[in-house]
Amino acid sequence: MKTRLPIGILVSGSGSNLQAIIDHIEEGKLDAVIKVVISDNPQAFALERCRRHNIPYVIINHKDYPLRDDFDQQLIYELQSRGVELVIMAGFMRILTARFLSSFPMRIMNIHPALLPAFPGLHVQRQAVEYGVRFSGCTVHFADDGVDTGPIVIQSVVPVYEDDNEGMLAQRILKEEHKIYPQAIQWFAEGRLEVKGRKVHLRAAKELHVTPQHNPSLVIR
Ligand code: GRF
Repeated sequence: MKTRLPIGILVSGSGSNLQAIIDHIEEGKLDAVIKVVISDNPQAFALERCRRHNIPYVIINHKDYPLRDDFDQQLIYELQSRGVELVIMAGFMRILTARFLSSFPMRIMNIHPALLPAFPGLHVQRQAVEYGVRFSGCTVHFADDGVDTGPIVIQSVVPVYEDDNEGMLAQRILKEEHKIYPQAIQWFAEGRLEVKGRKVHLRAAKELHVTPQHNPSLVIR
């Protein structure tokens, strides 16, 4: 039997990336097991997705924790006590602290809806439309102590059209997010990702059918 990577997923909202991960696991394309989903928002639709798929979840509402350190401590406890080896941030709206990062060194992944290092931070699809870039996309990266600055695992490119608005571009990018995030996690599960400084080396790259540059027809084996 294949070993499956124990993952924990942090969410705050809709959870469409969570759904993509659930679907890839259920279809046998991703060798991971979701040990827990943690939401800081009790109303997150992501929690409904957990209920539908019988996935354990915990709500850690940041409003209940006046001290940030206590919030982090609870997050760390819920993840470590379940043996989580990779933490997946999927639309989690809190910035990670040094304490959290040092509990999972190079074991936290994030997805960002732009081609980093362009457009870090929030509302980046709107910024891309307003700036007039011809391409944008999404990036999966390891988290470090900056905002959207960690070593890049995979990126996918999408075109930006002249009549796009923020929502149209966000939808086009999300479709790509749902392909590259499961792929990045699968590479981690296979032990193929090696971080050297700020670069991520993909081991055994010659055998791969897909590459860390995705534009945009990606097949997950
Ligand atoms: C995605 O656009 C992701 O890139 C960003 O937050 C959004 C989360 O969407 N970090 P969802 O909750 O997975 O639908």
